[in-house]
Amino acid sequence: MKSEDAAQAKGIHQSRKLPAPELAELWDSIVLDPAIKDQLLSQAVVNFTVRPKVARTVLPLHGAILLVGPPGTGKTSLARGLAQRTAESFKGSRFTLLEVDAHALGSSMMGKTQKAVSDLFSQSIAESAMAGGYTIVLLDEVETLAADRAKLSLEANPIDVHRATDAVLVQLDALAEQHANLLFVATSNFPQAVDSAFTSRCDLVLEIPLPNKAACEQILASCLEGLAATFAPIRRLPASEGFSKVVSELVGLDGRTIRKVVANALTVRKQVALRPEELTMSDLLEAARAAKAARSVRRSS
Ligand SMILES: Nc1ncnc2c1ncn2[C@@H]1O[C@H](COP(=O)(O)OP(=O)(O)O)[C@@H](O)[C@H]1O
Ligand SMILES: [Mg+2]
Repeated sequence: MKSEDAAQAKGIHQSRKLPAPELAELWDSIVLDPAIKDQLLSQAVVNFTVRPKVARTVLPLHGAILLVGPPGTGKTSLARGLAQRTAESFKGSRFTLLEVDAHALGSSMMGKTQKAVSDLFSQSIAESAMAGGYTIVLLDEVETLAADRAKLSLEANPIDVHRATDAVLVQLDALAEQHANLLFVATSNFPQAVDSAFTSRCDLVLEIPLPNKAACEQILASCLEGLAATFAPIRRLPASEGFSKVVSELVGLDGRTIRKVVANALTVRKQVALRPEELTMSDLLEAARAAKAARSVRRSS
């Protein structure tokens, strides 16, 4: 078995050395209040400057950060970007980013014993931590892993699942306590579904909001700017009439949907699909209105 397959078998979706070139743009690509970004980065840095040197009895630092917010608000991108920025803050140190496949791990809980699950979860993480350097573990969509036991019906979920979730939580805490060179960064679209035993262990629970009007404008502008790198005439759009009308239409949508609006605007007319440089504000307005309408349909259903 290749080492990659071996890692996957242990519930690790991906392992990479940091800084990684493919993660370089992520942090900056997410439009968010700089104060929130600073707080997030500082928390990750403190985890490695202070946590290894100060007892938990003095400062209750557990080595876990949780990002919560609606889907599409940039949590996964921020978590990866955070790992990158943290590694860059400790130049010359060895950093590894492990991504846990929470869905695979969640389903592997079915029919497994408590021990099998906790072993699965902890082995590869502990191995990385003990190899020296620093390890950041991304637990994406952690609610699938640490499902709130109180909300799970015993009938629908075999007792083993409850035990397994417990085992993962206990293991997580033990791992972070044993290895001060470890940081867990978790994300969740549904904070209500995350076990309070997990959230209470987090050093920072940060809410990532939907973009406000200024952020919507910035996301749209940067998206068009990116397109203009290839289709130069698009560069005129952010300064043209009707831009603010499109921005107003985008308020209430998440960042992923806003980028999708631009992609969809290219398909409003076949002529634009063929010649993207002919994109107009009215194509964008139409796509934005369609996205808004689709959102209200989803909400009311
Ligand atoms: N605030 C934002 N600013 C810029 N782009 C954003 C923002 N939020 C989301 N996106 C874009 O949406 C896409 C999905 O982001 P992702 O990190 O997967 O969100 P989440 O994990 O919250 O669902 C990415 O391409 C990202 O660039
Ligand atoms: Mg995500």
